Amino acid sequence: MPSIHNDFVPAMSEIAREAGALLISHFQQHVKVEYKGDADLVTVADRKSEILIRERIRKQWPAHDVLGEEQGLVDTGSDYRWYVDPLDGTTNFAHGFPVFCVSLALEYKGRRVAGVIYDPTRDELFAAEQGSGAYLNEEAISVSNISNLAECLVGTGFPSHKRHKNPNIFFYHQITLRTHGVRRAGSAALDLCNVACGRFDGFWEFNLNPWDTAAGVLIVEEAGGKITDFRGGPFQLNSRETLASNGLVHAALLIEFEQIFSGKGLEPLPNVGQDKK
Ligand code: IPD
Ligand code: CA
Ligand code: CA
Repeated sequence: MPSIHNDFVPAMSEIAREAGALLISHFQQHVKVEYKGDADLVTVADRKSEILIRERIRKQWPAHDVLGEEQGLVDTGSDYRWYVDPLDGTTNFAHGFPVFCVSLALEYKGRRVAGVIYDPTRDELFAAEQGSGAYLNEEAISVSNISNLAECLVGTGFPSHKRHKNPNIFFYHQITLRTHGVRRAGSAALDLCNVACGRFDGFWEFNLNPWDTAAGVLIVEEAGGKITDFRGGPFQLNSRETLASNGLVHAALLIEFEQIFSGKGLEPLPNVGQDKK
C-alpha cells in the first residue's frame, strides 16, 4: 500500500548521510569525552551532529517539532514530530570501536511514518516508510525465517544510566543458554536494523529512549518483524521495554521472559571462584 508520506525518505537519507560524514570526520581523533552520568558519555560529535540535523530539518520543515537526545524537545504542537539520535553508540565511538549510527524518525499525529538509520562505517542506510516496506541501500529487506529459538542469534544492550538497577544480566545469561548466542554491540538503533535485515532473529533492551527506537521499530515492522513490550503488549515509545523479533520466535522469547520475571526455570549462574571444574 503506498504511503502518503513517501516523499520524506530521500531528504531524511541525505540528512543522515551528511551527519554520518560529520561523525566519521571526528572518529578516531580521540575526541574529548564528557560525562552526562557515571558512564553516560557525550562528545563534540554528538552535539555537532544534532546541530546539523536540526538545521537541515528547520530549513526544509520549519513548522515541525523535534525531539533530539542532546537538545531535548521543542514542542509547538505540530502534527509532525522528529526523533533524532545524532550519534547512537557514543561509547563505541569514543573508544574507536566502529559500531555507531545516526537515527532519524518522523511521526505524524502520533503515528511513525518514516525512519532512516545510517551506519557511516559500513555505508549502510536503512530506511522505511509506513506501508512501503524496509530497505537497506535501496534493496528491499526482510526479517529472518528461523522459527526455532535454539537456532537464533539475538542482540541486547545494557543502558549506561542507572546500571546497578538493571536486571538484564539475568536475561543475558538465560537467553544465551537458549540460543546460538547473544550479541551486545552497543548501538540499539543498529541492533534493530540487524533484526530487520535478518542478521539477528531478535533483540531486546530495557529503558531505551524514544530517539533510540523510533526509527528502528518502524524499520523492523516494515521488514515483517514484530515489536512488543516484555509481556507481549503493544510497544510504545515511552514504554521502556523493547522486544523485537522476526515474529516467528516472538512467543518463545516471551515465554523465556515470563519465566525469568517470575524466577522459574532459571539456569543457575556458576559459582565464581569456588567451582573450578
Ligand atoms: C545507547 C546505545 C546502546 C544502548 C544504550 C543507549 P547512545 O545510545 O543505543 O546500545 O545499550 O541503552 O543509551 O547513548 O550511544 O546514543
Ligand atoms: Ca542512543
Ligand atoms: Ca546518542
